[in-house]
Order: sequence, then C-alpha cells, then structure tokens
Amino acid sequence: MGRTRLINIGHLYGITEGLSPKIGSDLAIVENIENAYLDFEADRIVGYGKMSDAAGESAETYDVQGGIVYPTYIDCHTHLVYAQNREGEFVDRIKGLTYQEIAQRGGGILNSVEKLRSMSEDELFSESKTRLDKLIKLGTGAIEIKSGYGLSLDAEVKMLRVVKRLKQAYSIPIKATFLGAHAFPIEFKDKPEAYVDYIIDVMLPAIAQEGLADYIDAFCEAGYFNVEQTKRIVQAGNQVGIRARLHVNQFESFGAIQMAAENNAISVEHLEVLSDADVEVLSNSSMYAVGLPACSFFIKIPYTDARRLIEANVPFVLASDYNPGSSPTGNLSFVMSLACIYMQMLPSEALNALTVNAACSLGIENEVGSIAVGKKANVIVSQQVKTLSAVPYQFGENVIDAVFINGQLTT
Ligand code: NIG
Ligand code: FE
Repeated sequence: MGRTRLINIGHLYGITEGLSPKIGSDLAIVENIENAYLDFEADRIVGYGKMSDAAGESAETYDVQGGIVYPTYIDCHTHLVYAQNREGEFVDRIKGLTYQEIAQRGGGILNSVEKLRSMSEDELFSESKTRLDKLIKLGTGAIEIKSGYGLSLDAEVKMLRVVKRLKQAYSIPIKATFLGAHAFPIEFKDKPEAYVDYIIDVMLPAIAQEGLADYIDAFCEAGYFNVEQTKRIVQAGNQVGIRARLHVNQFESFGAIQMAAENNAISVEHLEVLSDADVEVLSNSSMYAVGLPACSFFIKIPYTDARRLIEANVPFVLASDYNPGSSPTGNLSFVMSLACIYMQMLPSEALNALTVNAACSLGIENEVGSIAVGKKANVIVSQQVKTLSAVPYQFGENVIDAVFINGQLTT
C-alpha cells in the first residue's frame, strides 16, 4: 500500500511523542505546525512537517485547503449500548421533575433495564453499531463502553458480548467496562447486600472468565451504591485484574474518592460535587479525574470544577457520558464547547483532555491520542475552520469535514 499525504494543512494540531498525561499549565499546550503536511502509510502516521519540507512520492493526496487537522477524539466514558431513548423523561424534567425524582418513580436506569432485557443481542448490536458509525463521523476514534442496563447475569453478559462484537467489527480501540453496580434491579430492591454479593460472586467471575471486561465500574452515590459496597466491588475487580473507573460525586461527596484512591482505581468520573478534601486526595493520587459536561448541561446540575483540578495538577479528562438518561449525545465537539463555555477551559486544554489524556486513562496512549510517528493514522480534518478555537466556538455546528481512521477516509 502506498503513502497518503494530507497537504496544505493550515494548522496541524496535537503533535506530541510524549506518552504521559498533560497536567497543570502543560494542559494548555497543544503543539502545532503551520502550513503542514501529514503522511500515512497503511494504518500509521509515518511523517509530518512543514509543507515546504514535504519530500518523496505519495500515492494519494488529500488537500486540506488551509484548514486544520488534529487527532481524533477519545471518549473514555460512554453507555453506548442501550435499548431505547428516554425522551419521555426529558419532557418530565421540563415539567419540573428532577433526574433523581424520575429514578425514584421507577424511571431512569431501571426504565432502560426493562427495555434492554427484552431486546435481542442482535438487535442491540445493530442499534449500537448505528450509533458508533455516527460517532466516528463526529470524530470519535476510540471509545469506552459500559454495561449496566442489564443488572442480571444474562443481560449484563448480553451487553458485554455486544461490546465484544463491536471490538471485532471496528478497527478503532474499544474498551469494555462492567457496570453491574449501576442500580439495584427490582428483584433485589429490598436486599442491596445480596445484589452486591451477586455481582461479586456470580456476575464478575463469569464476565472475567469470558474476558468480557477491561474495567469495572459502580455508581457510588446516595440511593445507589454506598462507599462500602463500592469498595467491595472494586476489590473484587482488583482480585481478577480488572481495575475500576468509577461514577462518583455526581450529587454528593461522601468519601468515594478517598476509597477509590486507596483501592487502586484508575479514575473517578462525574465529580460535579467536590469537597476540599476530595481535591486534596486527587492531587496526591495518580487517578484521572473525568468531567462529563454534557450530563451537567442536559440534567442541569453543576459542572465539574475543572479549573480547580487542573490547578491541583490532577490529570484531567473529558468525556461524553453518552447515555439515554443524562447525556443523549456523544458529540465530543459539543463537549469541547461546553468545557470551554461552562468550565472555563481553553480550547487547547479541552483538546488535550479529549485526546492525549483520555488515551492515557484508557492505556492506549501508544496507539492513539496525538500526532506522532508510529501512532494510528486517526485524524479529524476541518477545511472550513482555520484555528482550533473555532471548533468549540461554533457550538452545535458540525465543522468536521473528514475523519481518517487507520489511514482510511471514513464516509
Ligand atoms: O453517568 N449516573 C449514572 N449513570 C449514567 C446515567 C444513566 C442513565 O440515566 O441511564 C450517568 O449519568
Ligand atoms: Fe456515566
């Protein structure tokens, strides 16, 4: 296979050979080359530089016409596999109910559980595939996908098998997370401890045995899984070599972050409510902090205090939280806009949080997350904008004109 050359790149952003997360003031640094070219061979980046230095032959060229090129986004927190949208709850919230009130009435996650249990694996796969195809066109070049709408052995395994089939069907990196502890299913409504036992003694061993999960997660929140229950689940994961990425501090701060730090969790995610002690723990740990601004936007809850975490040198990541209840979008350009507008993040900080830092949090930094020789040729092209800042600035617009995955133009 010959070489593909992207030419006349007004700005080539996101160049870094570094394989560690950007923290503190470095988060704002996006290395870029003006008037650049970028070379791919097969699925890899093989060279880049000033247009005036481009040498050698290329079998194919793609003219960026003075626009911009940057690495594809990495979405490290999604619930992409689900059975049905929940726009009815959206209307209920407009009428005044809160996200928690809807859940207390049996809506929310349990609503999705009912729908998912009655959908076949094939149908679930096909719906998930349609969503993923759309996300790739919106610039997502690697993704994490959780279970958590099954809450029984069969239904959780069904979800994770769908993720496994997605891994086989796509050439982008995909990671699977077991989220059996997303809510208490009706069968265990009055016996929460028995459900935690069921997760640990029945679901986790079967899932680990079949190699269906890269990570384990729990919704550690008032009314869901408490710190003690979450800790048992995290420790059970550690025993089978499956580390945790956890939903914490969405509504309350009650020690989940401390527990996560003490139990080798990779990341804590949501973090809309943070105490001084939480920030202190994070700054002394190596955990990633993941902000999910589309969830804050959609269910109108506070935004994660990104500035505070960045100033405390915590490796900060952004993700979509794509799910039918609290964030029915996986559009990471929009997430970037929200991060800039509501979290006072610079466009450069948001890009690093969505690329190199997200890659590090998923352990795929050797493959994706920046423009570097040897990495996968996964890039976003915008001919219509001339600077990175114009991407979040034009919120709600799709400014992406082309996406290359493994060196191939996706259509
Ligand atoms: O990350 N908070 C818990 N889980 C999801 C929402 C799930 C749902 O409402 O279906 C979240 O926001
Ligand atoms: Fe989530």
